[in-house]
Amino acid sequence: MRQHISRRNLLQTLALTGAAAGICLRTASPASAATGSALTVPDLLDATADSDGTKAFTLSMQTGTTEILSGISSATCGFNQAFLGPVIKVSQGDTVRMDITNNLDDVSTVHWHGAHIPPAVDGGPQNTIEAGATFSPSFEINQAACTLWFHPHALGTTSEQVASGLASMIIVDDDTDGAAALPSDYGTDQFPLILQSLPISTAGVIRYTTADELATSTSFPLLVNGANVGVAGTPTLDVDASRIRLHLLNASIADIITITRTDGASITQVATDAALLAAPLSITSLRLVGGERAEICLDVTSGADVTLQATVTAGGARGGSGTSSILTVTSTATSAADDLPSSLNTFTALDVSSPDATRTIALSNSGNTMLINGVAGTTMDAMEAAEIMTTLGATEVWTITNATGLTHSFHLHDVPFQVQSINGAAPTGAYAQWKDTILISPQSTNVIAMQFTDYADNTYGYMLHCHNTVHEDEGMMAMLMVMTD
Ligand code: C2O
Ligand code: CU
Ligand code: CU
Repeated sequence: MRQHISRRNLLQTLALTGAAAGICLRTASPASAATGSALTVPDLLDATADSDGTKAFTLSMQTGTTEILSGISSATCGFNQAFLGPVIKVSQGDTVRMDITNNLDDVSTVHWHGAHIPPAVDGGPQNTIEAGATFSPSFEINQAACTLWFHPHALGTTSEQVASGLASMIIVDDDTDGAAALPSDYGTDQFPLILQSLPISTAGVIRYTTADELATSTSFPLLVNGANVGVAGTPTLDVDASRIRLHLLNASIADIITITRTDGASITQVATDAALLAAPLSITSLRLVGGERAEICLDVTSGADVTLQATVTAGGARGGSGTSSILTVTSTATSAADDLPSSLNTFTALDVSSPDATRTIALSNSGNTMLINGVAGTTMDAMEAAEIMTTLGATEVWTITNATGLTHSFHLHDVPFQVQSINGAAPTGAYAQWKDTILISPQSTNVIAMQFTDYADNTYGYMLHCHNTVHEDEGMMAMLMVMTD
């Protein structure tokens, strides 16, 4: 902890000297708060193509300063920029290399959340990148269209580093008819919406622990692609298209965000966090727990603006609350978009009639120590001693029990899963299809099934954990070894 405190002090010092030296701040134009300003659309990160066709992406983890609260400079971190980062767009079948340089003054990792890749390149706590070092994992995009994201995953510092701004999105495309029917021209009719309910002190210091949440000087502004809607106003988006596709990510460390239209009309959901839905799904609200993603389509024509709003509920000891508008879409299109096809994807239920293993994943706590199956995963030794072992190809059924009075966000690396039941009832809507992150209600029992395909390694493991990163750092994390035989 001492190390983190001194790093925080250093960042504050950097922020002050940065401001004093007149370093250009990324501002949220507070003057236009009443009308709102144009949605910040992250740049797409360009790849360089190697001779063998590998797409190489360069990521620098760096520190900077950002104006999150009006007129106050905050010490932040980002990928290739001061806060958050560029979006990476790839296609199924691509081979990619991520050249990551850690320009922080602390050890880190970069995890590709939702990616189905070997554990040696997964970016969990075993893949540490020392300060100043470069790590260049390479892997194939071995999954169909979906919305992934990337963020640090080092032991004990995930919450701090994610809250500081080290988070961005990966959009995976494929060449199926389902994907082709969806808007996919990034920046024209396809946009990321990275949402954060961010704990921050009145002095502008980003916070990331349970004690921080409880501190009375902490507020929880809502950020859309890094812009504080309470300062910059509701982001506006002017398009020519009659249909747009939004890739939503709740990148909050703890809080839960529910999206609705201000006019109460329905929204078309087209993907969960792990895959396109079998068919477009008409919903009136979309709840996202920390780490969870979804894709929606909005049809919008001239004179019929659409405004989305987000209702935030605390996922931690204290947290954000209330409802704010997060996007107003205005279109010049005069004719409505064609109907979406009735089928977008194929969903096949796993055969769970005779699973290779059944397990209980018991979530509990003892004060601020968070446990999985009685163990706090705060060190590699503790996680290795309690590691879950399976074998390549195994189909498993897990019962996740929550003995706590808290809401959790359950996330499994490597493969997506299928929810079998929640408190005995079959899942509905998008929770009945492929998922990699789900909300776990207080005192609930949740049964999920998965199959460990393609990748095994007897040295490197995958993680399963609560994606409330405060809880994750407090120990609610375990290791899964998929063994070669
Ligand atoms: Cu988004 Cu194990 O993480
Ligand atoms: Cu993950
Ligand atoms: Cu939790």
